[in-house]
Amino acid sequence: MKLKGQTAIVTGAASGIGAQTALLLSQEGANVVLVDLNSCSKTLTAIQEARTDAVFLECLGDIRDPEFVKAAIARASDTFGELHILVNNAGTCGRLGLDTMTLDMWDRDMDTNAKATFLFIQSVVYPHMVEQKYGRIINISSVSGLNGGVISGGTKDGRSGPAYAASKGAMIALTKWVAKELGEYGITCNSVAPGATESAITAGVEYDVSDQAIKRIGIPADIAEAVLYFASPESGYTTGQILKVDGGYSFG
Ligand SMILES: NC(=O)c1ccc[n+]([C@@H]2O[C@H](COP(=O)([O-])OP(=O)(O)OC[C@H]3O[C@@H](n4cnc5c(N)ncnc54)[C@H](O)[C@@H]3O)[C@@H](O)[C@H]2O)c1
Repeated sequence: MKLKGQTAIVTGAASGIGAQTALLLSQEGANVVLVDLNSCSKTLTAIQEARTDAVFLECLGDIRDPEFVKAAIARASDTFGELHILVNNAGTCGRLGLDTMTLDMWDRDMDTNAKATFLFIQSVVYPHMVEQKYGRIINISSVSGLNGGVISGGTKDGRSGPAYAASKGAMIALTKWVAKELGEYGITCNSVAPGATESAITAGVEYDVSDQAIKRIGIPADIAEAVLYFASPESGYTTGQILKVDGGYSFG
């Protein structure tokens, strides 16, 4: 158990990549704080089946709300004391092109993906991780944040829309900023950038994998294993890095 006795906060833990990440970190011994808008009951069942002595806390609310974020961090700290790992995973993905997308859609993706990541980082680092002189922050961005997203064939709509791509690009830049500001305190900040991965976000969307080196779309466990590396004490000399987990979709 690499993470025995540590506490990990995972946002978007009700489904998909976040659910698998919470499960894996729990299996590695971490106390897990599951944050989501929706009930995490399915994730909690899997966690308890995998480890009968699993320790967890469920915090339900909207991560775009600064007061909710502060309250969730306070509950986690009151329950477990030190907070070691933060995984900013919850996300939304609008797919409409510039011609039809609305300001509400822009705000939703920017606030869920980028603003909430900032809110969680700010709430957890100085009151907790800096004091402890230890922390592992992992932001789940996307290859869309690196390549600007992919326009769907023949339409202006995308497999990921402009707000999604911009918000994931913001997460990538923020990852590097945070790495630079906090390295001296024993805190690392890295990002996992998934390619297409099976989840609610990708359900019903066609992905052509013929150009990928590995000819399948990802599964949440592919992403969770990468998160585990960055969450582990052993990754302490790696910071500000963006790890693409995309089956060899893009290089360089
Ligand atoms: N699945 C993919 O192909 C893929 C590719 C690249 C990046 N990602 C990123 O991975 C992350 C996880 O996505 P997923 O594929 O597991 O999707 P998912 O829809 O299964 O999970 C997203 C979770 O975030 C939660 N959430 C959304 N908005 C929230 C809010 N305002 N407050 C609290 N919780 C909220 C949802 O309830 C859901 O449980 C996202 O950031 C996504 O952008 C996914």
